[in-house]
Amino acid sequence: MKARSARLNGLGTTIFAEMSAAAARTGAINLGQGFPDTDGPAAVLDAAIAAIRDGRNQYPPGAGVPELRAAIARHQKRWYGLNVDPDAEVVVTTGATEAIAGTLLGLIDPGDEVIVLEPYYDSYVAMIQMAGGVRKPVTLRAPDFRLPIEELRGAVTGNTTAILLNSPHNPTGTVLDAEELAAIASVAIEHDLVVISDEVYEHLTFGVPHIPISTLPGMAERTITISSGGKSFSVTGWKIGWATGPAELIAAVTGAKQFLSYTSGAPFQPAIAAALDFGEDYFTAFRTQMQQQRDQLCAGLTALGFETFIPAGTYFATSDIRPLGFDDGLDFCRRLPELAGVVAIPHQVFYDDVEAGRPLVRWAFCKRPEVISEALVRLSGLATHGR
Ligand SMILES: Cc1ncc(COP(=O)(O)O)c(C=O)c1O
Repeated sequence: MKARSARLNGLGTTIFAEMSAAAARTGAINLGQGFPDTDGPAAVLDAAIAAIRDGRNQYPPGAGVPELRAAIARHQKRWYGLNVDPDAEVVVTTGATEAIAGTLLGLIDPGDEVIVLEPYYDSYVAMIQMAGGVRKPVTLRAPDFRLPIEELRGAVTGNTTAILLNSPHNPTGTVLDAEELAAIASVAIEHDLVVISDEVYEHLTFGVPHIPISTLPGMAERTITISSGGKSFSVTGWKIGWATGPAELIAAVTGAKQFLSYTSGAPFQPAIAAALDFGEDYFTAFRTQMQQQRDQLCAGLTALGFETFIPAGTYFATSDIRPLGFDDGLDFCRRLPELAGVVAIPHQVFYDDVEAGRPLVRWAFCKRPEVISEALVRLSGLATHGR
C-alpha cells in the first residue's frame, strides 16, 4: 500500500533538506534556505528570556496571548489603516506555515480549486493537497515576473474557491502593484472567492510599497492575511506567525489550528508583541540592511555573468544560469556545492510548468556581507567550469 504522505514528497517539498544537507556535508555556504545568519534585535531576545523566567512556559490560549493579538491589530492599523478586532479577527500560529495550513484545511473542501502563483512556496502545494484541493497555477515568468492577469481570470472555474497570493513573492521578489491587486480583487469579488494573502515579507520591500490586498474596497471581508514574526524580526526559529481576517474565516482557521498544534510557543509571543510595536527606525534599518545585501549579491552575480533579476522584495534574488553555459537549475544546484562550495535552490521544483523555471536558481541574501562576498569569490571559479 502506498502511504498517502508519500504523494506529498515531491521534489519541491524535499529540496531544502537535500540542499541544506549538501551544505553541511561539503562545508558549502548556504544561500539556499531563507534564514538570516544574524539574530534579531537584543530587545526581542531579552523579552523572550524574561518571559521564560517569568514562568510563561505552559500552554497559552489557542488563539494566541492577548498582548500579541492586540499588538498584531495595532500593527495592521499603524501600517495599513486596517481595523482588526484582536479578540475575533486574529489567530496566532506556529509560524506562517501553520497559518497557511490552518487556512487551507479550514476553508478548502475536497475538489475545491485554489489559484496559486507559480513558482509557489513549497508548503502551498502540500497543504492544498492535504486539504483535498486542486491547485491551479498562474505563472510569473522571467524576466519581469509580473502577474498575467488574463491568465488569472482564465484560471477561474465553477470549482474555484480561493486565490492564494504571496506578495512580496518568494522566490521571484515580485511585489504586486496597485493595478495588479485591483485586478485580483475584481476577479475575487466577481466570483465570490476568498483571497489568502501570504505577506510574510511585508517589511522587506525595496523602493516600492507593500499593499495588503485587504486594504482594497470589498476585500477585507474576504481576505485572510498571513504574516510571520520570524521574518520581520530575524527569529525564524521561533515560528510565531498569524492570520488576520473576518471573524468567520478566522474561526475556521482557529478550528484547524486546534488540531495541528493547539497552541504556539508561549514565551515567544510576548516578545514578538513587543517587537511589533518597534518604531519606524527599526523597520527602516532592517529594510536598508537587507537592500544593501541584495545590491551586493545581485551586482556580484551580474558581474560573474549570471543574468540576475533584481527583486523588489523578500530575502531572495533569482538568476538565469544559461549565460554561464548551464541550462538545468536542478542539475546545477546539485553540482554547485562540489563545483563552487555554494548552495542555491532551483526554481523548477516550484512550478507545474517546469520549463518556465528550468534555467532559474534562487539565492538568499539574508546573510552577512562578508558571507555574500565569500560566496561570490567561490562562484567566480564557475565561469571556467562551464557545463
Ligand atoms: C512565502 C513564505 N511563506 C511562509 C513562510 C513560512 O514562514 P514561517 O517560518 O513563519 O512559518 C516562508 C518562509 O520561508 C515563506 O517564504
